[in-house]
Amino acid sequence: MSLLEAQNRVLSGMRPTGPLHLGHYHGVLKNWIKLQHEYECMFFVADWHALTTHYDDPKIVENNVWEMVIDWLAAGVNPGSACLFIQSRIPEHAELHLLLSMITPLAWLERVPSFKDQQARLHEKDLSTYGFLGYPLLQSADILIYKAGHVPVGSDQVPHVELTREIARRFNHIYGKDSGFVEMAEIAIKKLGRKNAKMYRELRRDFLEKGVQESLEKAQAMLQGQANISNGDRDRLFGYLDGGGRPILPEPQVQLTQTAVFPGIDGAKMSKSAGNCIGLREDPVSIEKKIKTMTTDSARARRNDVGNPNKCPVFKLHVLYSKDDVKQWVKEGCISAGIGCIDCKKPLTESILTEQKPMLERARQYEENPDLVRSIVAEGCEKARVIAKSTLEDVRQAMGLNYR
Ligand code: TRP
Ligand code: SF4
Repeated sequence: MSLLEAQNRVLSGMRPTGPLHLGHYHGVLKNWIKLQHEYECMFFVADWHALTTHYDDPKIVENNVWEMVIDWLAAGVNPGSACLFIQSRIPEHAELHLLLSMITPLAWLERVPSFKDQQARLHEKDLSTYGFLGYPLLQSADILIYKAGHVPVGSDQVPHVELTREIARRFNHIYGKDSGFVEMAEIAIKKLGRKNAKMYRELRRDFLEKGVQESLEKAQAMLQGQANISNGDRDRLFGYLDGGGRPILPEPQVQLTQTAVFPGIDGAKMSKSAGNCIGLREDPVSIEKKIKTMTTDSARARRNDVGNPNKCPVFKLHVLYSKDDVKQWVKEGCISAGIGCIDCKKPLTESILTEQKPMLERARQYEENPDLVRSIVAEGCEKARVIAKSTLEDVRQAMGLNYR
């Protein structure tokens, strides 16, 4: 596999700490489902990452791994397009984590914002552990072992991808230049043919001497289009373009998932800890009941009191779920006491259940047939492991561990 091919690879993971809710669906999964048609996608269950904070309660992880995969499938993640796997089934992540730990300055980990934040927030737990400090480095290993080009994450995870880029850069700087790199790159240039070789040299000079970013991109595009050179040569020419050596571990790009905060049934951000969730596969009867008992604008204690939709959690969900005419109906009816809150909630309940219906249908076959889920994941693990092993070979070689 060449580095250029890996540039088209997307990797992301989720920690199996509880059933997924509508916030996950609108914030993460809908994006995954879109990406799976545009990139080679790898999505995994980050069970080791879950253990860094839930080490004293392993049941939580155990109970949620398969359920989370079913949530993904229910939402529309397609195992025919995306590779689904479990982190702990690919032990290569752990070896890469260990090897990267050799070159990772402690200060880089200590200054990752989530380290201090989480320690402060989850104060009932002792998070002064070696594993928790290493959380973002394990994440770097997850990403780098697949040489992923893009990592779709929320803003809280951006520092982890930034760290990954710094680690990759440091690794390539220390180990990247295989001996005779320049000579081999020069030989590879000749294999491009006279016209392309000339073009490559000109574009490379433009970039190195004048910093013309466009030239770098043009040259990369040209390399991508070359069918008759080997992957090794392609990587070499790719690395030679920006002056460095052949990158063993390419730097991933952050793909920031931009999402508005998804409101829970109390109007605050939907999250497990706030206890204000509607589960992705929650029983429709229970969903109906939750919406029925949602608090509304406190000014509307009686049916005849007028209200203000902007002070009501129900309206926040209408904003996301309802068409303009329904939103208008709510607004007018609320401020004039023309409709009651029970009327107002009806179309919302319907929209949420309509959105959920195909998910429950998709989920049913997996719930009824756990072996099917196991085999999807087994296949994903197998595929992931081939890539992981090959990267680890490169890394071992670079670090002088190739004597076997
Ligand atoms: N830390 C991520 C989260 O809590 C999960 C994760 C682990 C991840 N490894 C990853 C995400 C690699 C993207 C890429 O959401
Ligand atoms: Fe909220 Fe709708 Fe009741 Fe107004 S009518 S207070 S928007 S539930």
